[in-house]
Amino acid sequence: MRRLSTNIKKLLNILNDGKYHDGTSIGNQLKITRSAVWKMITKLKNYGIEIRSEKGTGYILQTPLNLLNKEFLKQNINYKDLDIETFETLPSTNDYLKNFVSQKKLRICLAELQTHGRGRLSRQWFSPFGQNIYFSLLFHLHKDVSELAGLALVAGLGVIKTLTPFVNPSLLRIKWPNDILYDQKKIAGILIDVQGETKNGRCAVIVGIGINVNMQLEKKNPINKNWTSLARITNKLSDRNVICVHLTNQLMKNLLDFEMHGLNFFLQDWNSLDFLFGKIIKLESVDKQTEGRAQGIDQYGRLLLELADKSLCAFSSGEISIKEWR
Ligand code: BTN
Repeated sequence: MRRLSTNIKKLLNILNDGKYHDGTSIGNQLKITRSAVWKMITKLKNYGIEIRSEKGTGYILQTPLNLLNKEFLKQNINYKDLDIETFETLPSTNDYLKNFVSQKKLRICLAELQTHGRGRLSRQWFSPFGQNIYFSLLFHLHKDVSELAGLALVAGLGVIKTLTPFVNPSLLRIKWPNDILYDQKKIAGILIDVQGETKNGRCAVIVGIGINVNMQLEKKNPINKNWTSLARITNKLSDRNVICVHLTNQLMKNLLDFEMHGLNFFLQDWNSLDFLFGKIIKLESVDKQTEGRAQGIDQYGRLLLELADKSLCAFSSGEISIKEWR
C-alpha cells in the first residue's frame, strides 16, 4: 500500500507536456538529485508507463497521464460527509475498505494501480497504473443481508448512468448480474463484498467498481474476453476525476433510493437495459447447469429463466454463457 507521493505528481506534471526533459532540469524543479529522478522514472516504467529515455535529450512521456486528484474529488462530489482516500498502489480497493467496516463513516477509496484487483468468481481484475478507475465505496445499509441481492444491480445501473454522457447511450447494456457492456463488450464490472451486520443493525457493504477508461494496449493485457474502454470508443483520453465525481454522485443516489424504495424502484430501468432478455442461456453454478430463456429479474434481483417445460425458475448466482441470440 502506498499513497501518491508529491514528487511523482510533480514529475508527471512536468512530463505531461509531451516534450523531452532532462534529468538535471527535472531534479532542479523537484529539488532532488539526477539519480533520484532516474529512480522515479524507473519506478514509473515498472508500473507500465511508457517513458522513453534518450541520451543527451532526457525523458519523454508517450501518452499524457492525469492522476487522481483528491482535492478535485472533494470539491465536486455532492456528499460532503464522505471520507475520500487515493493511493498510488493498493492490493485491492475493496480489501482496503474492509479495515473500516466497524466505523459508521461513509468512505470511498481509489487507487492508481491494484496489485491484486479482484473480479467476480475469484477472477483477477487487470488494473494497470493510471489508466482506469478502481473505486470502492463503503456504505452502511439499513437492510437485512437477505435483501441485498439487488444491490449489485442497482450499482450497475449507477455505472450505466455515469457512462451515458460520454458514449452513445443506446449501446450500453447490463448483463445480469452486473457486467456493464458497450456494444456487447465489457467496459466495467462490479464486485460487492457484504460484511454482515454491524452493531447498529445495519449491513456494511463494499461496492467495488472497475471502469476501463484510458486503457488501450493489448500487449500486456491478460483479459481474454471481449473488452472495451472509453478511449477505444471515443478515440480520446478522458479525465478520470470527472468520471469519478459522476460515479460517486450517481452511486450514492442509487444506494439511498434502494434503501428507501427497494429494487422495485429500479425495475423499469433494468428492463430497458437488460442484455440477456429473450436470449437462450446456460447458467452454471457449482453443482448444476441449467438452460433456459432469460426473462428478466424478479423483485429480489434473481435472474428468471423460462425452462423447456415453460416453467419459470429464479437463480441468484452462476456463470452465464449465451446459447442462442435473439
Ligand atoms: C467483475 O466484473 O468481475 C468485477 C470487477 C470489479 C473490479 C473492481 S476494481 C475496484 C474494486 N477492487 C477490486 O479488487 N475489485 C473491484
